[in-house]
Amino acid sequence: MSVKRIGVLTSGGDAPGMNAAVRSVVRTAMFHGIECYGIRRGYNGLISGDLIRMDEKSISHTINRGGTILYTARSKEFMTEEGQKKAVSTCKFLGLDGVVAIGGDGTFRGAKALSSHGVNVVCIPATIDNDISCTNYSIGFDTAANTAIECIDRLRDTMQSHERCSVVEVMGRNAGFLAMYVGLAVGATAVLVPEKPIDFEQDVIEKIRRARFNGFTHYMIVVAEGSGSAAEIATKIKEAIDLDPRVTVLGHIQRGGVPTGRDRVNATKMGYLAVELLLQGKTNRIVCTKDGHFTDVAIDEGLKMQRRIQDIEVDVLAAMTGI
Ligand code: F6P
Repeated sequence: MSVKRIGVLTSGGDAPGMNAAVRSVVRTAMFHGIECYGIRRGYNGLISGDLIRMDEKSISHTINRGGTILYTARSKEFMTEEGQKKAVSTCKFLGLDGVVAIGGDGTFRGAKALSSHGVNVVCIPATIDNDISCTNYSIGFDTAANTAIECIDRLRDTMQSHERCSVVEVMGRNAGFLAMYVGLAVGATAVLVPEKPIDFEQDVIEKIRRARFNGFTHYMIVVAEGSGSAAEIATKIKEAIDLDPRVTVLGHIQRGGVPTGRDRVNATKMGYLAVELLLQGKTNRIVCTKDGHFTDVAIDEGLKMQRRIQDIEVDVLAAMTGI
């Protein structure tokens, strides 16, 4: 397949490292003499024709910037057949030989729709939730996790001084990957994730009691947003035991900030591979990591896969908490 012109977009929730992926797509395209267009505001940009020509200047000093220079959106219009047809005609009008779509599973579903209308698409996983089943790693997770860890370390200082209990809500939508990782990293008293049904007495109160029995005077409870609200958990703790927990919802703080080296390097490799796949005539693919290697899967196949929190994380957590 001859590839002369491609587009790149970011869609869904932004994730630190998206810019590094865009930069890599543009640089790889330039390396191969391919023209590259930045499609702005996700699939909305394809519908309205909001595109800009990308070159070395448009991506300069972006590898270290959080957010996305292309803006992002969760396009409602693109979910309609009408919207998809408009997007396809933009691709045809501009003669795009391929589109690289960077985002989470919603982005991939959009890419699948584009692909079903004959547009060549390759996806790159980027979401702080790390909940894309076909890949072990999604761009943004490392930065978000480290941001949350730093915030909770700060909280611990004041919780320790006042001998308090803290209930911290971590993002992740319906998945607990971020909360589990962060909970392990901060040495939480308890971690609640949606993948594991909660026995409040056993999983929270008992752990606090045991920690107290062992001489601890402050307690850190990490809650994945998909497990319920930190405020509700705090109220239940107050009702069950003589503590007056403080609630912190980390919220969108977790999505911003300078991407870590890991996110920049993975994004750079994935951006490169996405363009190489298009050059090899492969389409309808997701770039992913598996067993420490970079590979790719069909979008359909990737969307069907299921991923669970690793047993080792659950086992380690059980050993590390409530002592
Ligand atoms: O998918 C990324 C994410 O940050 C989730 O963790 C969170 O539930 C959601 O996006 C928040 O979305 P919004 O930015 O629309 O509030």
